[in-house]
Amino acid sequence: MVKEVLVAPSMLACDFSKIGEEVEMVNKSEADWFHLDIMDGVFVPNISFGFPVVEAIGSLATKPLDVHLMIEKPERYISKFVKAGTSYLTVHVEASPHLHRTIQEIKDAGIKGGVVLNPHTPISSIENVVSDLDMVLIMSVNPGFGGQSFIPNAVNKIQMLRQVIDQENPNCLIEVDGGVSMKNAQQLIDAGADVLVAGSSIFGSQDPTAEISALKTLKKGQKLA
Ligand code: DX5
Ligand code: ZN
Repeated sequence: MVKEVLVAPSMLACDFSKIGEEVEMVNKSEADWFHLDIMDGVFVPNISFGFPVVEAIGSLATKPLDVHLMIEKPERYISKFVKAGTSYLTVHVEASPHLHRTIQEIKDAGIKGGVVLNPHTPISSIENVVSDLDMVLIMSVNPGFGGQSFIPNAVNKIQMLRQVIDQENPNCLIEVDGGVSMKNAQQLIDAGADVLVAGSSIFGSQDPTAEISALKTLKKGQKLA
């Protein structure tokens, strides 16, 4: 298990009119990854951005791209996201009818692959693929928009998932996304989260670099050591 807490700012919340400066801020900060949210207006009721933006961010980024696909049949676009510079590619369990094949295709392409669970989707839905995963992303809001309120049940869900992961695939990371801030981050880490995605709490703060540093000061507790 990774001992350090990883922080992945969600670029959906950045100021796209000065995207170069925003990428540079993340590059210079203590953040670990760039979290990029791809929405198709079908799987989720919103459209975000596509390949030109991912490629532009990738050309400036000095840290790995963590791409969260909120699109129907994500398997159609794996190779394009690999070419665009993705390091971690996650697909929603609810959006991929042949999930096992999709995960294999991502890993065969030479990058890390993971799955995402909506708030209503049980952990049991991934029991037959858990040993194949590099990461499981627990949604703590319903996907589609930044700036939503955190759903507290995510804490229990992470606790339950931590037990499964420790038993079945201890190297698999647990990521949490939606409404994450300094108010709930320690609780999420104590529950077993390895990677914190945060959008509005970082980019909406007076000092995004300091907000990232604050998240990076949080430590995993004894019970997880
Ligand atoms: C929601 C996205 C999130 C979003 C998080 O569908 O997956 O990554 O940008 O934004 P905040 O941190 O503002 O909830
Ligand atoms: Zn996301």
